Amino acid sequence: MTDKSSSASAPPASSMWGGRFAGGPAAIMQRINASIDFDKRLYAQDVKGSMAHCRMLVKQGILTAADGDAILDGLARVLAEIEAGGFPFRAELEDIHMNVEARLAELIGEAAGRLHTARSRNDQVATDFRLWVRDAMDGMEAALRDLQAALIERAEEHAATVMPGFTHLQAAQPVTFGHHLMAYVEMVGRDRGRLADARARLNECPLGSAALAGTSFPIDRHATAAELGFRAPTNNSLDGVSDRDFALEFMAAAAIAAVHLSRLAEELVIWTSAQFRFVSLSDAFTTGSSIMPQKRNPDAAELIRAKTGRVIGDLNALLIVMKGLPLAYSKDMQDDKEPVFEVADTMELAIAAMAGMVRDMRVNEGVMRAAAGAGYTTATDIADWCVRALRMPFRRAHHVAGSLVKLAETRGCGLEDLTLAEMQGIEPGITEEARAVLAVDHSVASRTSFGGTAPERVREQVAAARARWL
Ligand code: ARG
Repeated sequence: MTDKSSSASAPPASSMWGGRFAGGPAAIMQRINASIDFDKRLYAQDVKGSMAHCRMLVKQGILTAADGDAILDGLARVLAEIEAGGFPFRAELEDIHMNVEARLAELIGEAAGRLHTARSRNDQVATDFRLWVRDAMDGMEAALRDLQAALIERAEEHAATVMPGFTHLQAAQPVTFGHHLMAYVEMVGRDRGRLADARARLNECPLGSAALAGTSFPIDRHATAAELGFRAPTNNSLDGVSDRDFALEFMAAAAIAAVHLSRLAEELVIWTSAQFRFVSLSDAFTTGSSIMPQKRNPDAAELIRAKTGRVIGDLNALLIVMKGLPLAYSKDMQDDKEPVFEVADTMELAIAAMAGMVRDMRVNEGVMRAAAGAGYTTATDIADWCVRALRMPFRRAHHVAGSLVKLAETRGCGLEDLTLAEMQGIEPGITEEARAVLAVDHSVASRTSFGGTAPERVREQVAAARARWL
């Protein structure tokens, strides 16, 4: 039996809260209760929050300057010790807050016990976690910006590269590859917007909410909020300690961004297949097979597609943790951190890998061009020509084009391979000029409506996106 699974009692109750306790927690209680294994990632935010709280207590005359100096000094040493590595995090001290405070007490003695005046771990953890998520939002925002930069660069390069556009994954109409990539720039732009919106709502400081009711000490919550870079203190102490919307919004924004990544990842999987060959990835972003020598697998794209499931799962996990929780703090909320950490880590990897693949991919323009014309993708163009040149109602023109497709299909050829006589057999008004609209370049060049696929429009989108997003 390992001591982890034994039912023996752990050391005596915590000196942080053990006043009314005679014995210590069971070993299993300690294991389920402790969060230090994961919440140690909040160490920098914890020290920063404590420093702000300490300075405010001194300024308000709640702590003496001497105690304040000793605490600030000690906290700086704790931070340095943690950063140097090898800090002895102790599970019996439960979490990062008590590990930092216990070490502070070892370093500076009794004054350390005054730091927790007018606060609780409930507002402390809410503050630390907001600070952490705020940084994570900024990190994700920067990564998404880099992905947009990669997409915009490749879009400009391929503003006039023709490919088939798809609906139902059936060839629909020719588009430009630049246009296709710029669609993702739009998605990622909305992702960045969602993060910015969430950040603005996150940016209120719960510190000073104390356990749930506020405090009788004359604290200055505006001062701590300002020092920690928050717009303002939170308005309601109960909400301050029990709100995790900021974590949910971060994960929700991430989940939508991940869905976007998964769609591009899926397209890369399709495009790199032997059946499509629209793009190729280099050795840097592919792996081989241990049995099939010919294989070059787009693993990074597949993994991004898979990791999207995890991110969505993490969002769900915290939504379900929070559902139905009565006010204010409940220990359930300690389980908020692991999903958020996993989302941040996963997204960091996924976004960087996607930006890497976008920069890496070689575009097989010839293959794309050949595919662009296959599947009668310019049938709409001939219908449009009938509308314009013959003043035909679109519904009838649609019928004419459909009959041309049917004829080509029975002949086993493309629309452009039909003779003028064959076409005139279906619609006598068709002239040689109508046949010109069947070329894929003509087709994309004609789609000049705002937001359309014409190369000139794509170049405008590229310029506008650069100005807006980079
Ligand atoms: N480790 C706890 C958490 O992450 C800190 C807050 C503990 N509060 C309490 N009332 N036990 O949520």
